[in-house]
Amino acid sequence: MLKGRSLLEPKDFTIEELEDIFQLADKIIDAPENYEEACRGKLLATLFYEPSTRTRFSFEAAMCRLGGKVIGFSEPNSSSVAKGESIADTVRTVACYADIVVMRHPKEGAPRVAAKSTDIPVINAGDGGHQHPTQTLTDLLTIRRERGGFDDITVGVCGDLKFGRTVHSLIKALSRYKNVKFILISPDELKIPDYVRKEILQKNNIEYKEVEKMEEVLPELDVLYMTRVQKERFFNEEDYIRLKDKYILEEEKMKLAKKDMMVLHPLPRVNEISVEVDKDPRALYFKQAKYGMYVRMALIMSLLGCEKVS
Ligand code: NCD
Repeated sequence: MLKGRSLLEPKDFTIEELEDIFQLADKIIDAPENYEEACRGKLLATLFYEPSTRTRFSFEAAMCRLGGKVIGFSEPNSSSVAKGESIADTVRTVACYADIVVMRHPKEGAPRVAAKSTDIPVINAGDGGHQHPTQTLTDLLTIRRERGGFDDITVGVCGDLKFGRTVHSLIKALSRYKNVKFILISPDELKIPDYVRKEILQKNNIEYKEVEKMEEVLPELDVLYMTRVQKERFFNEEDYIRLKDKYILEEEKMKLAKKDMMVLHPLPRVNEISVEVDKDPRALYFKQAKYGMYVRMALIMSLLGCEKVS
């Protein structure tokens, strides 16, 4: 039962619970009109302490499409946060008004603090460079719908593997499926954190390799997950400028890839995928953004225990 639970990191839900969410997302995609009233009378609060376009809008769109309502802030300086209120107090207060909270915060672990302060479900919409579980639900739903499943795939993850929270969450989630291999493509300075390498990949005996050149591994990949260099998490602007254009996926490079390789990106894109790749049928990132709304509809319904009303 997912009713009343929080989602702070991908492994909070079992594989079976995730499958239930994906199956509900499939049903919503097939007949969204059946769900227009599913969360009528429910209120979702979005507490965004960091910039966002897709995540916040897709949560808001998801709740509106379920017939629920949304309150929240996207500019913490316009709320009592600016007066020095703690996360715990803000959440306790918001929980007096809303039925479910979605939080994005620059500090790792902030949504966990929020979840401990209230009984209503809290969804982590990204905490610092740590985790981003609803982006992972989006990524998984995309792979599942476009490929049929997660077993026996080789996934290349490219770019900022150090600060990219979407990458950490995706590796954590995919490491539970059968025979998934990872090829981690990054410069030395942006390699995945040691805890991901040791506690997730090595501990679970997952096959992986770390390389610097994208071209040499492209032909092996079933999925290429591109990421932007996370400017806001750099201490030093010079390092960012030196690394930001390290990887650019262009039409020429796509010729090296399998005919059915999926190109995913959590977005926003900066320069790492050239716009000419957008017309390649393997470029799925905008479709992925759309799936993100549907999977969030399924998640909200599940955590609130809302039944379909038709
Ligand atoms: C990602 C994030 O916020 O971590 N964006 C998103 O939610 N789709 C990726 C990023 O900002 O690079």
